[in-house]
Order: sequence, then C-alpha cells, then structure tokens
Amino acid sequence: MTDLLKISGLHASIDADGKPKEILRGVDLVIPPGEVHAIMGPNGCGKSTLSYVLAGREEYDVTSGSVTFMGRDLLDMEPEERAAAGLFLAFQSPVELPGVNNANFLRTAVNAVRRARGEAELDAVGFLKAVRAATKNLSMSDDMLKRSVNVGFSGGEKKRNEVLQMTMLQPTLAILDETDSGLDVDALRIVAEGVKNLRSPKFSALVITHHQRLLDYLGPDRIHVMARGRIVRSGGPELAKQIDAEGYASFLAEAA
Ligand SMILES: Nc1ncnc2c1ncn2[C@@H]1O[C@H](COP(=O)(O)OP(=O)(O)O)[C@@H](O)[C@H]1O
Ligand SMILES: [Mg+2]
Repeated sequence: MTDLLKISGLHASIDADGKPKEILRGVDLVIPPGEVHAIMGPNGCGKSTLSYVLAGREEYDVTSGSVTFMGRDLLDMEPEERAAAGLFLAFQSPVELPGVNNANFLRTAVNAVRRARGEAELDAVGFLKAVRAATKNLSMSDDMLKRSVNVGFSGGEKKRNEVLQMTMLQPTLAILDETDSGLDVDALRIVAEGVKNLRSPKFSALVITHHQRLLDYLGPDRIHVMARGRIVRSGGPELAKQIDAEGYASFLAEAA
C-alpha cells in the first residue's frame, strides 16, 4: 500500500536578517493510512517549522528533499489544494478573524473541500444539522458558532473550535501542532478525544507535542523524536516513557 505521507530528506531554511538559517536538516518521516503518529522534541528543534512547511507557508525555503501526500508532490501544491486534497493543519496559535462569523467561515471551508471532492455542497439547513451534531459531541455551546472566528475565545474554546473544524472537514490527514505550554489538561483531552473520535482506516493524524499527558490519552501508533531539525528516533510508547524519565539529552547527542 502506498504511504499517505512521505517526507524524505527535507531541508528548509528561513531568512534571518538577510542570511538563510537552516531549521529542518533532513527530516524523514512516513505515515501510513489509518495511523496516528506523534512527534516529540525539545523547544526549538523545528516541530512548528515542519508543520508550517507542510502547510505551504511562503517564508520557508525548501532547499532539498521531497514530500508526497497520497502520491502527489505536496510541495508543488497551493495551500488551498492541500486542504482540498484532504490535509488539515492546526497551528500553535489559531488565527482570529474579527467580523467573520464562525459558522459561515466553517460552512465556506467545508463546501470548498466538498466541491473539490466532487461532493454536493451543504445548504444552510444541511450544514446547521451537521454542525449542531458536531458541537453537541464536543460539548460546545451554539453560541460559539455565532461569534467571530476565535475572537475572545479562551484557550480551551480555541481548541474545541479547532477540533470542530477538523471534525466537519473530515480530513484524510490532520496535523496538529500543540502549544508548548499553557494548555490545560481539559484542552489536551479535547484534542485527544477529537482525534480518537475520527480514528478510521481513512483518517491519519500527526500530533506534534511534548506533553506526555496528551500521548497517554491519544495512544499513538508510533512516536518520532525530533532533535536539531531531524527525526532521530522512531518507536512505540516506550520512547515517550524514556523521554519522561531521561529528558532529551541522549537524543540531542545523537543529533549533534
Ligand atoms: N522567523 C524566524 N527567524 C529566525 N529563526 C527562526 C524563525 N522562526 C523560527 N526560527 C528558529 O527555528 C528554530 C525552530 O523553531 P520551531 O520550529 O518553532 O521549533 P519548535 O516548534 O520545535 O519549538 C528555533 O531555533 C527558532 O528560533
Ligand atoms: Mg512549536
């Protein structure tokens, strides 16, 4: 079976005061269909950079390597094409869109993806029915649908909204970059349960985190450890336990 996501020898840099600064230094990673994987790693190792490069943010220069998603060259696709192909990305800090109604925003996004998949668009009634069912499942109040996207949302509400978007968009691959700090236990549980509820042979997820707690809830199929811009080790839950006990020192030495 072909891999859902295959990252090979990915190098990427960013312009830092006129000089290219290399952040990703040869990332190799494969995610098969139907699996949930996690990336752990110390602050500054390049976890968020990897998610931005996969999203297609312009400020990063991919200098070598390749990324294929469902057999297609991901790096050659526009950000909207990536979404239409079934890729969903949630970032460390979700954007706030003052004046943009949350429900309308979500309906527009869902219908853009449905159109790209050759599916019928949801009309207002059909959308409302689907979104109400989803918010109920997430214990979200309908009130959040009427507000501007993420404006004045608490950390936990932003997380719920992110999981709502993911649930409604039904991606083939969800990449979730979790904040390095400040996420409370409830917010972690919302994310973990959102991913668990979507688990199926047609859904994969890559959760970027350094919270042992999140991994306990999530029970990923595989854990990858990132250090200094590369994946230096991949394995099962025992890796998370090792990090919990020893920290990242041995992994950093491997990456030096
Ligand atoms: N715009 C930028 N200019 C210069 N350096 C950057 C920029 N963005 C990120 N970096 C650096 O790249 C490294 C990786 O950052 P990041 O991907 O956010 O790490 P992580 O998410 O693993 O904490 C850090 O050393 C960070 O300082
Ligand atoms: Mg980060």
